[in-house]
Amino acid sequence: MKLLKRTHTCGELTASDNEKRVILNGWVHKNRDHGGIHFINLRDRYGIVQVVIDEDAPMQLKQTASELKFEYCISVSGIVRKRPPEMINKEMATGEVEISAKEITIFSTSETLPFMINEKAEAREDLRLKYRFLDLRTEKMQENIKLRHKITFAVREYLNNLDFFEIETPTFIKTTPEGARDFIVPSRLYPGKAFALPQSPQIYKQLLMVSGFDKYFQIARCYRDEDARGDRQPEFTQIDIEMSFVDKEDILKLTEGMMHHIFSTNTEIKLPKEFKRLTYHDSMNFYGTDKPDLRFDLAIGDFTDIAKESEFSVFRSAAESNGAVKFINAKGCGNFSRKQITELEDVAKIYKAKGLAWMKVTEAGLDGGISKFFKDKEKNIIDRTKSENGDLLLFVADTWRISCTSLGAVRNKLAADLDLAEKGKFEFVWIVDFPLFEWNEDEKKWDPAHHMFTMPQQQYLETMEKDPGDVKGDLYDLVLNGYEIASGSIRVHDPIIQKRIFSIVGFSEEEAMNKFGFLLDAFKYGPPPHGGIAPGLDRLVMIMRGENSIREVIAFPKNTAGLSPLDSSPSELSQQQMDELHIKFTE
Ligand code: AMO
Ligand code: AMP
Repeated sequence: MKLLKRTHTCGELTASDNEKRVILNGWVHKNRDHGGIHFINLRDRYGIVQVVIDEDAPMQLKQTASELKFEYCISVSGIVRKRPPEMINKEMATGEVEISAKEITIFSTSETLPFMINEKAEAREDLRLKYRFLDLRTEKMQENIKLRHKITFAVREYLNNLDFFEIETPTFIKTTPEGARDFIVPSRLYPGKAFALPQSPQIYKQLLMVSGFDKYFQIARCYRDEDARGDRQPEFTQIDIEMSFVDKEDILKLTEGMMHHIFSTNTEIKLPKEFKRLTYHDSMNFYGTDKPDLRFDLAIGDFTDIAKESEFSVFRSAAESNGAVKFINAKGCGNFSRKQITELEDVAKIYKAKGLAWMKVTEAGLDGGISKFFKDKEKNIIDRTKSENGDLLLFVADTWRISCTSLGAVRNKLAADLDLAEKGKFEFVWIVDFPLFEWNEDEKKWDPAHHMFTMPQQQYLETMEKDPGDVKGDLYDLVLNGYEIASGSIRVHDPIIQKRIFSIVGFSEEEAMNKFGFLLDAFKYGPPPHGGIAPGLDRLVMIMRGENSIREVIAFPKNTAGLSPLDSSPSELSQQQMDELHIKFTE
C-alpha cells in the first residue's frame, strides 16, 4: 500500500481553500449513507472535516466507502468545496466546507470498539484505562493532553527566559525525606541492597545549589507508594524549582509570574498581580483547612464568648475548658430539612465533631434546634453571625482544631450541594507561616510539618527547642480552588541548625548521617542560602481543565486501586528474575 501523505490536516480547511486538491489522513469518526450519497466525518488531532462520496462517484469508490467502519484509519484524496449556505455547520471549525472524495485508501481496519469515541457518554473508568489508547482519541482527552503539553512548554519558556537550567536528577536513589513510603528497586549486583525511587528530587536539587547552578528546574517524575485518590497518583509530575541567594518573597514572586505566564498563554483569564495570602492559623480558623477553596465565602466565625454565657451546657463547657465554639451561617438554608442537617452532621462527625448544633433565622427570630437556649441573646447572635431571615446557623463546640476542621468540611459539603463554586473561576491563595513541627500523637514525638530541611523563621531560632509547637517555618503552600498545588520552603544550609532540627524530630546523628550524610557532607563545602518550590503539574492541569481527577490529565495513569488495567501491572516476576534480584515473596 502506498502511503498517501497528507497535504492538510482535518481541522484547518475553510472556505478560502475552495477547489484545492487535498490529501487527508485520519480516522473514520462517523459514516452515514444517505441513499446513495455517503458522508464520512474524518478526524485527526487537529479536528474533523466532512468527506462526501457523491451519488455519481465511481462504483469502486462507493464500494470502498461502504466498507468503512468506525475508527478505520484511512487516506482521502479529494477536492475542497464550499457547502451550500443552508448546509453550513457552525458547530464545526471546518463547517463551511466539505471534501468531495476522489480516492480513498484504507490504511488499517478496526475491530468493534469497546466504547464509542464520538459520543460524550463516558465508559466505565477501568474499561477506559484498559483501552487507554482509544480513550485518548476522544476530544476531551485530546484537549487535556494538549493543555498539559502547553503548560509544560509555558513553564520551560518562562524559566528559560529567567536563566534557569533544566537539569535531570537520578531515578534510582537512596531515599527521600518527603515522608511517604518509598518504591523500592532491589539491586541485582548487590544482594540485600535496593534503590529507592525519588519521592521528589529534593536532596538532589539542594546539591545542585551547592554545585553553584543557582537557578534549577525540572519537570520531575515523583514516586510515592501511597493510595491513589482523585488528586493523588503513585507516580506524578512536579515542576520542581530551586534557587540560591533568595528569600521567601523571591520564590512567591517567581511562582506568581510563572502562573501568570501559564494562564496568559493558555486562557483568557486575568490573574491578580499578587495572590492573596493567609497565615496557616487564619486559614484553619476561617476555613477549617490549610487548603481553602476561596471561590465562595461561607467563612467560619467565632461563638465562644457568647457560648460561655449560655445555658447550653455542651457549649458552655467547651468554652470554659479552653475549647472553642465556632459557627457557619449557611445563607438561605433555613428551609433545610432535618435529613439535610443530619447529612451535614455526619460530615462534621467524620472530622471528630460530637455533633452539629443548629438554629434557623426566621422573621420571628431564632427558631428550632438549640435556639431555646439563646432567647435572651438573639440580637447579639444575629449581629455576630450577620444573619437574616431564611438563614441556617450551624455550630460545633470542641477543641479549636476540631471545631474548625469539622466546620471546614461542612463548609465544603454545603458549597458542593449548593453549587457555590463558580466554574471557570480560579482563586489562588498562598498559605504561609506554617508550624515547622507537628505533634505526632501516636508516636508521642514531633514530626517535621513539611520536610526536615525547612528553615525556622528567624525569630524562633534561639528558642526552638523550648516549644517546638510554637515555631513557624519559612514554608509556603500555594492553593488553587481548594487544592494544594504547590509546596516549598527556604532550606536550612547551616549544619548546626540542621542538627538541632534532626534532634527535635528524634533523628539520631547516626540515622541522619546514614540517610542524608551526603547532603550534610556537601553542606561542609560552602553551601549557598537557598530555597525552592514544587507545583504539582497534574493538579494544575486538572483544575485548569475543570476535571475532578488527575487521572484525566495523565496519559497512562494507574486506577483508583493503584493498578494499570492497560498492561496489568504490577505483575508476577519469573523465578529467574527473583533469583537474579536475590528476592523471595512471602505470599
Ligand atoms: P510536596 O510533597 O508538598 O513537596 O509536593 C509538592 C506538590 O506535588 C503535588 N503532589 C502530588 N500530586 C499528585 N499525586 C501525588 N501523590 C502528589 N503528592 C504531591 C502537590 C504538592 O503540592 N520537595 C518538596 C517541594 C519543595 O520543598 O521544593 C515536595 O515534594 O501539588
Ligand atoms: P443533645 O443535647 O446531645 O441532644 O444535642 C443537641 C444538639 O447539639 C444536637 O443537634 C447535637 O448534634 C448537637 N451537639 C452535641 N454536641 C455538640 C458539640 N460538641 N458541638 C456542636 N453540636 C453538638
